[in-house]
Formats: sequence, C-alpha cells, structure tokens
Amino acid sequence: MSEPIKHGRIVVRRFGDAGVLKQADAVTSAPGRGQVRVRVLAAAVGYTDVMARKGEYIFQRGLPFTPGYEVVGQVVDHDAGPVPPWLVPGARVAACLTRMGGYTEYANLPVQLLAPVPDGLDTRAAAALPLDYLTALSLLDRHSRARPGDTVLIHGATGGVGDALCQLGAHRGLVMYGTASERSLHRLRDYDIVPIDYRRQDVAQVVSAKHPEGVRIVYDHLGGSSMRANHRLLAPGGVLVSYAFMGRPGHVLADTVRGALRNRMLNLLPGKRTALCTLPREIASDPSRHQALLTHLFELALGRHIRPRIGACFPLSEAAEAHRALERREAPGKIILTTS
Ligand SMILES: NC(=O)c1ccc[n+]([C@@H]2O[C@H](COP(=O)([O-])OP(=O)(O)OC[C@H]3O[C@@H](n4cnc5c(N)ncnc54)[C@H](OP(=O)(O)O)[C@@H]3O)[C@@H](O)[C@H]2O)c1
Repeated sequence: MSEPIKHGRIVVRRFGDAGVLKQADAVTSAPGRGQVRVRVLAAAVGYTDVMARKGEYIFQRGLPFTPGYEVVGQVVDHDAGPVPPWLVPGARVAACLTRMGGYTEYANLPVQLLAPVPDGLDTRAAAALPLDYLTALSLLDRHSRARPGDTVLIHGATGGVGDALCQLGAHRGLVMYGTASERSLHRLRDYDIVPIDYRRQDVAQVVSAKHPEGVRIVYDHLGGSSMRANHRLLAPGGVLVSYAFMGRPGHVLADTVRGALRNRMLNLLPGKRTALCTLPREIASDPSRHQALLTHLFELALGRHIRPRIGACFPLSEAAEAHRALERREAPGKIILTTS
C-alpha cells in the first residue's frame, strides 16, 4: 500500500493542563527514504509528556506537536531499502522516538529506531519499556558503569525510570536503597532493596548509617538542593548521575538549566564524578546501539527477568484523561494509550 492514510492523532496547540490534548485529523503519506510506515497499537505516557504539554520540557517541541516518546505498532509498508528479515508488513515493532510524536494512529518512523517485538510479549508491556528502561540502562552502563555488589541510592524508586532501575539493578546484583513516598513504598517490597520514605525519613541519615564510607552511585531526578546532599553521600570515586531536575512549579525550565549547571560544577570537585543523562540525544547520536539495547530489553522481558508494570490503559482518544491519571499519581505503573 502506498496511498496516504487518514487517521487520528493527539495534538497540543497551546501549552496548559491536560485539556489541551486534543484529537485531530492527520494524514500519513507513503514512507519516505529510510522510513517505515507503522500502524500504532500502543503508545506510553510518561512524566516527560506532561512537562512538554505544559511547555516546561528542556527539549521542548514547538507548537503544535504530538507528545509521546514510546510506541509499539505494526509495519504497514516501508521505503527502507534492504531491511532485516523481521521487518515485514504486519510485524510488530517498537521504538523510542527522539522528537516525540507517539500519540497517533499511524506514523512514518526511521528504520534505525525500530526493534522487533518478540512473539509472546504483550503489546502494552512492550510499549511500557522503551523510554524508562533505555534511560535506566544508560544510567547504569554509560554513566555509572554499575557492577554487581555496587551500593546505589535510587531516588524516586517507584517512578517509571526508578522502577526500571530497580528491576535492572536487581538483575545485576546491586545493593540498592530506594526512596518513595508512603503511598507507593509497598511496591519496593518486590525487590531486594532497602526502602526509604523520603517524606518521613532522613534519606542521607539512613544511607550513611549503613554506609559511613558512602555509596558508589546515586541516581537523582530531583535536582535543587538535594544534589549537594547526594554528592556528600558518595564514597571516594563515586558518581552522582542526574537524569531530571524536578523544579519548582512555575520555574521548571529555569531550575532544569540551574540543575544541569550545578551538576557540571559538582564535577569540578576532586575525588568524585557527576554525569547527566539525556536519552533522546543519546539515541539520536547512536540509534543502532539503542535499537540493539531495546531488542535486548525485550528478551529480558520475555524471559521474565524484568516485568514492566502496567498501571492503566486508556484509548488514544482519552489521552487527556490518561494525563490526569498520571498527575493524580493513582496508577501503580506505566500508563498506556491504545488504538482501536
Ligand atoms: N534524562 C532522560 O533522558 C529522561 C528519561 C526519562 C525521564 N526523564 C525525566 O525523569 C523524571 C522522572 O520521570 P518518570 O517518568 O520516572 O516519572 P514518574 O513516573 O512520575 O516518577 C517520579 C517519581 O518521583 C518520586 N518523587 C517525587 N518527589 C520526590 C522526592 N521529593 N524525593 C524522592 N522521590 C520523589 C515519585 O514518588 P512518589 O509517587 O512515591 O511520591 C515518583 O515515583 C521526569 O522529570 C522525566 O522527565 C528523563
């Protein structure tokens, strides 16, 4: 088939609350050179989408835009020249996109971003993996070179990226401490991890009581003043890896820039290291490596070494409701949008 396909997608035309996520008509033309046209089966919702919807994302898309980094779909057709044998019409494929655009029924995607979804792996489980688990792999391998037995502190251990860190960390034999609030703390019982209630306990005190010499790695998405405390918690030779800066309401972008600068400044202090993960850029600079990593993650999921948590599913047309659910923090796992 090479005809343009009319379909629906979700568009943000102005920044704001979840109500700005609107359904719109779209046309996906025949795939261009190096592209695969995909019928999207499921797209995942992450906190990054919420930030982008509000206009507070550091890699902000200009208006109008379609949010969503993670998709699973079925190959319709392609113009990608010689392709691997799994890339045939009807095959399920997944991608972590580099410029968003996942909340749609059809899309033309670059062939080098696509990984095959193995038979036996649920479509929604596959959609829950790309951004959070590729970020977690980057934090573990590229930025901190985590080894079995390393002591690590994971802030926000029940969040999307945090949960992926816990699951991959458990698989690698890390000694893990994880922070969460009371409402989600119970989920850490599934792992061999010391849970810390960040609202009721002094995180630094709990960790340093057990490890007065410090921990090898801290994974941080908070930024702000916690960065200095995190840095102090590191053992000599340790590394603080930032992957987000939560920011104060109304100051998220400025606080993100400030956090990134603070991360760089702390790196000037001797004896310890800091690092900053920006996954979409990392994928854009080496897509084939990430295609291979995503394939590896699907194998781990198929073998039940990792178990992506599905918190809730919504039809694509209810993307606004999905964002409200995410912001109410009521779903115990990833929120997935499905097409009909
Ligand atoms: N660098 C990258 O390439 C990259 C990739 C993916 C995501 N991100 C960013 O990473 C951040 C997290 O994303 P996500 O999808 O994992 O979000 P998420 O699922 O909403 O998780 C955030 C977690 O933060 C926890 N939290 C809130 N306040 C906290 C505090 N004061 N101390 C410790 N934990 C706290 C929450 O725990 P409770 O619910 O228990 O309060 C929640 O589990 C976002 O800013 C996102 O944009 C960056």
